[in-house]
Amino acid sequence: MNRVPFVCGNWKMHYGVSEALALADALLPMIEPLAGVEVGIAPTYTALHAVGQRVKGTKLLLSAQNCHFEAQGAYTGEISASMLKDVGCHYVIIGHSERRSLFGETDEGCAKKVAAVLKAGLLPILCVGETLAERDANQTLEVVTRQLTAGLSEVAADQAMTTVVAYEPVWAIGTGRTATPTQAQEVHAHLRKVIAGQLGAGVAEAMRLQYGGSVKAENARDLFGQPDIDGGLIGGAALKADSFAAIVKAAAAG
Ligand code: 13P
Repeated sequence: MNRVPFVCGNWKMHYGVSEALALADALLPMIEPLAGVEVGIAPTYTALHAVGQRVKGTKLLLSAQNCHFEAQGAYTGEISASMLKDVGCHYVIIGHSERRSLFGETDEGCAKKVAAVLKAGLLPILCVGETLAERDANQTLEVVTRQLTAGLSEVAADQAMTTVVAYEPVWAIGTGRTATPTQAQEVHAHLRKVIAGQLGAGVAEAMRLQYGGSVKAENARDLFGQPDIDGGLIGGAALKADSFAAIVKAAAAG
């Protein structure tokens, strides 16, 4: 199956409205001519509306970095998936390792969020990944299997095709230490096998599996060239138009 690669920039807690708009403006002419790749950007909550207006109808798909699993209610400080849809989001990142490690997110909570995102008519990007201690203890496949199986546990097979999974080894995030293409491919191939067992071979073939963790223009092509790596979730290198566009081009060419 020919999966269209998907590259998404996760801007994390960077850039207020004017800086976010400036980055989106710089990206648009670089991204618009590229074919054969889907491109997302995930600004902070406060910049979503303005950036959403700016990129409406363009190739840049608005994404959010998190949401709450309920549609509305007394949840001070939270934002629901339908509210994200309201400001023009297509995607929502769920269960990023920073949310898991710093804000206590659990596999069960992620499963509820994935279901809520789909229910609102948006697409989840479910993040999984092991810590360095887990890798050193040879627990990588066990950990990502647990996170993946739980995260997709409330997803029906007919909704699952459009769900995206991002493999982000925690030790590679923001460290400059990237998984080698072989290391990443090994985990991606495993994830696809687990998805096939859980949701069927057709879903596993269709689902995009991104790699994230110190992706740069220099290593993107080798990573995206792996058979089970369908694009990437980009942190630091997504904060500058030139470096992000170069990574997107590597996916488009691959
Ligand atoms: P870096 O690209 O900065 O390593 O971050 C990856 C990431 O966490 C994307 O979600």
